[in-house]
Amino acid sequence: MNCSFLCGMAQTQVHTFMDYCREAAASQQDWLKCTLALPVATDARSDLKSITIRPVLLKKGPHFAFNFRYKTRDEVKNYTPEAALLEIENLLGTHFMEATLQTTHRDAHLRITPEGATLRTKAPTQTAPADLKHDKTKVRLLDPAAPWLHALGITTAKGEVLANAQDKWRQINKFLEIISNLHREKPLPTDAQIADMGSGKGYLTFALYNYLTDGLGLKPQVTGIELRPNLVELCNKLAQKVGYQQLTFVAEDIRDFPMERLDMLIALHACDTATDLAIAKGLSSKAEIVVVAPCCHKQIRRDMHPANELSPVLKHGILEERQAEIVTDGIRALLLEANGYKTSVFEFISTEHTAKNVMITALKKQTHTAAQQKAALDKVAAIKAGFGIEKHYLETII
Ligand SMILES: C[S@@+](CC[C@H](N)C(=O)[O-])C[C@H]1O[C@@H](n2cnc3c(N)ncnc32)[C@H](O)[C@@H]1O
Repeated sequence: MNCSFLCGMAQTQVHTFMDYCREAAASQQDWLKCTLALPVATDARSDLKSITIRPVLLKKGPHFAFNFRYKTRDEVKNYTPEAALLEIENLLGTHFMEATLQTTHRDAHLRITPEGATLRTKAPTQTAPADLKHDKTKVRLLDPAAPWLHALGITTAKGEVLANAQDKWRQINKFLEIISNLHREKPLPTDAQIADMGSGKGYLTFALYNYLTDGLGLKPQVTGIELRPNLVELCNKLAQKVGYQQLTFVAEDIRDFPMERLDMLIALHACDTATDLAIAKGLSSKAEIVVVAPCCHKQIRRDMHPANELSPVLKHGILEERQAEIVTDGIRALLLEANGYKTSVFEFISTEHTAKNVMITALKKQTHTAAQQKAALDKVAAIKAGFGIEKHYLETII
């Protein structure tokens, strides 16, 4: 830790954060993930954007895998628990100004500024212990040599990720990591029925099919729904060419997709209210898992007439836009909760790659009471009243 920079209160907060790290490291399974972010602008290693630290069980014993995320590449290095704690402590305040620790007991967020530091804790996002056998740094969720990756312009014929496709590659892998975690929490059936709504050029649909079949040994039926017939044709031809028999694409509007059994609904970057159409399909098909990464948020921005203390700040276009996004996605999550889902809203991929980086995942709960439904709907009503919104589009179609 840089003591000349961190003084008084800041040091106390960093020490407390490090205590949480030590406590979680003592029983490796309590430690889920630690992320160091917000690099110091003057840092010589400035193309190092962030580090993600996870526990791994190696032959030589428990270690922590540091995934160093540079602008155009990732590097993984394993540290003993002692060395890992030392490295984190050294990096805080010198190279990184933000740290998040997720453990089975609590989530802790540390933010260091020139004025001091703030440390916030909240209930854990995940309480299931870390799966140390699942060595994420070694088990690759996607083989870059997969021929469809080359056909879609992500890799060379030799299976090397193209320089201009690094962001896409990262996004695909992050998506599979999320799917892998969701599957661990709520396993998909072998014959899972899955719809990817607004599948576009199919990168994520192919990746999903590849992972579920080759990675997990399932025999799913995956359907991509996409308005643009040329993309549907391209994807269907490619699926046949690479022998993905149960991966099909249909040229259709999401709203016309027939209500049928769905185990998992996916809609990534589907424009504006297309995300709502997809969520509504997921709800009516009683999908066990819903994964959406909303895109543009036009409806609420247009229909929002705030009558709360935020109205003076929302006269600024950029703040109004961001607020509309928060309200739109917050209400989506609440409506999913009202319909019996446990939801998480988090950063899908870093904002340096795209401004549209929020993901909402929802897992159907075993039990759901009328009181829980009412509580969620009351929250929606209160938000709508505060922001002068008559209707969220999703409400009108579910
Ligand atoms: C931004 S692309 C995202 C593609 C892909 N999901 C991804 O994340 O890479 C959104 C796609 O959704 C499609 N789309 C938008 N509204 C749709 C609707 N109502 N029905 C079907 N497809 C739709 C668009 O044609 C477009 O290809």
